[in-house]
This record gives sequence, C-alpha cells and structure tokens, in this order.
Amino acid sequence: MQIGEAAHQIVFLHPMSQTQAPTSVSSRKLYIESYGCAMNFSDSEIIASIMGEHGFTSTQDELDADVIFLNTCAIRDNAEQRIRERLKHLRMNKKRNNDLIIGVLGCMAERLKDKLLEEEKLVDVVAGPDSYRELPKLVAEVDEGGRAINVLLSREETYGDLNPVRLNTNGVTAFISIMRGCDNMCSFCVVPFTRGRERSRDPQSIVKEAVQLAEQGYKEITLLGQNVDSYLWFGGGAKKDFKKLTEEEQASSVDFADLLELCALAVPGMRIRYSTSHPRDITPKVIHTMAKYKNICNYIHLPAQSGNTRVLDIMSRNYSREWYMDKIEMIRGILPDCGISCDIIAGFCTETEEEHQDTLSLMEWSQFDFSYMYKYSERPGTPAAKKLVDDVPEEVKGRRLKEIIDLQNRMSTEKNQRYVGQIVDVLVEADSKRSDQDWMARNDQNIVVVFPKEQYKKGDFVQVKIERASTSTLVGVAVGYASL
Ligand code: SAH
Ligand code: SF4
Ligand code: F3S
Repeated sequence: MQIGEAAHQIVFLHPMSQTQAPTSVSSRKLYIESYGCAMNFSDSEIIASIMGEHGFTSTQDELDADVIFLNTCAIRDNAEQRIRERLKHLRMNKKRNNDLIIGVLGCMAERLKDKLLEEEKLVDVVAGPDSYRELPKLVAEVDEGGRAINVLLSREETYGDLNPVRLNTNGVTAFISIMRGCDNMCSFCVVPFTRGRERSRDPQSIVKEAVQLAEQGYKEITLLGQNVDSYLWFGGGAKKDFKKLTEEEQASSVDFADLLELCALAVPGMRIRYSTSHPRDITPKVIHTMAKYKNICNYIHLPAQSGNTRVLDIMSRNYSREWYMDKIEMIRGILPDCGISCDIIAGFCTETEEEHQDTLSLMEWSQFDFSYMYKYSERPGTPAAKKLVDDVPEEVKGRRLKEIIDLQNRMSTEKNQRYVGQIVDVLVEADSKRSDQDWMARNDQNIVVVFPKEQYKKGDFVQVKIERASTSTLVGVAVGYASL
C-alpha cells in the first residue's frame, strides 16, 4: 500500500455519487479531501456512500461546498502539520460562508479526539475511522448549533455492507478494503491506536464488490489491509487465532490465500493486487496461489523497516534480519519474476551507524524494485514514545535517509534496465503525467510504463516494447494487445 503523507493527493467526490439515491430532499454539497494511505482513500469512498444516502451531492469545488471533510493521517508528525496548515486556509472559506461545516475525520481525528475541537476552533465535526455511519447525525447536530464528535472504535465495524462511491476514479483501478485495524503494535506505529483492533470482512461481500467493479468495466482491484496475511474469516467475530477455532470453524474458514483464490476465480478478466504483506505472517500458500492464477499480479509490498535484528526487535516487528531474508528467498523460489517493494525507517531510536549499514546491506541483498523511505517520527502514546529515546539527531536521520534513498534509486535504475528490449504486458490506467499523447500504464510488477497512445484505450491490456528506463519509469512503444 502506498502510504504516507508524501503520497497525499486531493480527491474529489466523483460525479457518479450523484446517482446514489438520496433519502432526503436536501441537496447540500460535500467536498472530501483524503490524506495518507490507500485505506484512507478507500474510507473516503465509504464516507461518500453514507453521505450520498443522506442527500449530499458532490462538488469538486471547495468554495461551493456546504460540508468539507478532511480525511486525515497521523502516521508521522509532518502528516499532521499538513492538516493544521490546511485548516488555517479553510478559515477563509468559513469567512465567505458562515454556515460551512468543517469535519476532521480519520486517523488524526482518532488520535487527538476532543483535543482537536479545543485546538482548532473552526472544526465542527470530529469523527474516527469506525464512526462514519454516524456522520449524517453528527452533521445534523452541528445544524442544531453544536459541535459534534464520535471517536468510538469498534471490534466489528467493517462497512462490508456498503457500496462505496468511487472517488476521483480512472474507471480502471479500484481499492477494496478486506479488513480494518491492526493488532500488531509495532512500537513506532500509531495505527493500532487510530484504527483499533484488527477485523476481517466477510469474503462474500468482498467478492461481490469485485464482481460489481468488473461489471462496471474496472480492470484491476487492490485488496487492502494493514497486514493482509492475517486476514481470517470464519463466520464473524474478532477471534483470529486459527488454532483457537473449533474444528467446524477451521473447516469453513477463509484465510488470505483462500480469499485471493476466490477473487481470482470470480473476476478472471481483472488484475488482482494486494497490500500490505507482513514478513512475519506471509505464507508459501499465498505465493503458490499467486503463481497459480495469472490474473494475480506478481508484486509484493513487504516492508522490512530495518535490516538489523536488534532494531527490529525494539520495533516489535517479531522477525529477524535472517527471517526476512528467508521470506525473500521463499518468494523468489516460487515466483522468480516477482516485483518486491519495501518500507524503511531511518534513524529509529538508538540505531547505531553499523545498524544503519545493516539496513543498506539488506536492501542491496533484497534488490527491491522500489521503496517508501522515511525518517523516524516519534508519535505520542506509542510504545516507542513511552519506552525508548528518540536519540538519533535530526541531521543524522537526514543523512541516513539520504543514503537509503540514494541506494534505492541506484538499484531501481539498474533493475529497470533489465526491461530494455523486452516486451511487457501492461494495463492502461490514465494519461501520462508529462503528455496527453502518451498513456501511463503499469506492468505486472507495478512499474510505471509510458508509451504513445496510438489506437489503444484506457483499460486495455497492451504489449509494450521497452526502449529506455529511468529510476521510476519504463518508456516504450505498443506492439499489440495483451491477454490477461
Ligand atoms: N501495515 C504496514 C505499514 C503501515 S504504516 C506494515 O506493517 O508494514 C506505513 C509505513 O509508514 C510503515 O511501513 C513505516 O515504514 C512508516 N511509519 C510508520 N510509523 C512511522 C513513524 N512513527 N515514523 C516514520 N515512519 C513510520
Ligand atoms: Fe503499524 Fe505494524 Fe500494524 Fe503496520 S503492522 S500498521 S507498522 S502496527
Ligand atoms: Fe493510513 Fe495514516 Fe491512518 S497511513 S492508517 S491514514 S495514520
């Protein structure tokens, strides 16, 4: 899952949302901005669906909005600072329109709770990730003259019955949340506090959503969870340890590999991706399932965070450097052609220079296709903030991060050269950022491929002969249609 404030984009309610039948005659306009990870973007589509059912139509113009929701991220301090800046700007909108309702939703709302109402006077609504069904009621409370908050976390809520309104869509690729929350408690991470306990969504509702997307012409789904490898459905409830299930429950349970298979069979004309895998929990069964079905993409996002076992230990990642390397070998043994990407944190508490070198050597050994790389940012209330000292000086963190980024860029550039002269199968997603004469597509391994449009259309599977490669992009020409 591409996560982090660096991935921040603004999304707008897609005009499709207006086709959702309103249950009230109100025609108020809603504008949503999403920050953070794919799960948050996916949540905004659930929010749009809930609000759509209560008569809110979409606008892409924030100045036209009656309600503005910021769906926020709290993963690093700078993610929250960006929201604070955005709120400052929204003061102008409120000056123009006194009735404007401003809501802060998502992880920052959950982390700060009523403090947010105290600190940010222009915020009317604060809602956490498990309370979106309450949003129409919270807005109604504001209409009555109050300010409204609901940050209750749930052990059951999966929004599995809702029909997400696809936002800012390219009509080709879509996210499907398969689970919520996280039970892992990595010491640096705020997610267990902002998203609560892990719970898996009913597989039938996931398959139904995939089939609906296929019927609407979508060509690729990405199944989302903070740790997809611990997906487990056995008929409901929060219990998730397979060994603790009754025999009957075990027999009828669906794990992540089973879910992948169900999806692969249900939507054979669609590509299937997923994110995020956890090195502790990833199983050969998942990789064999990927190998068995051509429509499951050969790509795995497998965050290491660090390449040093002591650091991994104080991060509470529950695996060692060697364990991580075994998993990479296991993947490459079953799927030699698999793209692998990584997340790395530079300068975690007490990290020494040698331990940082271990991260660099693990990256080099693993030959990641690309990585998301961050400086450690202490999050209040996390185990690391409580028990460890954030003692790596800012400039050392910065220098280590730069070394990590430089290494990844060098590897990506070298690795992408292997495609030059080859023909790769891609799915066309959108106009290229640089030119509307070119398509932006992705190959199986999730690498961006750009080529002249010619007669090809968005959503086509195309064979592209690669002519040159840079750090992040392959450039080529189409040579024909591809089959999935
Ligand atoms: N569930 C995923 C990651 C979710 S958060 C996993 O376990 O891999 C996305 C990424 O943000 C993490 O992989 C980590 O690299 C980074 N991250 C999380 N907390 C952070 C922090 N406090 N400081 C810096 N980076 C952090
Ligand atoms: Fe955070 Fe760890 Fe859960 Fe990922 S697995 S969301 S890093 S606690
Ligand atoms: Fe995602 Fe940020 Fe929350 S990464 S889970 S939106 S803290």
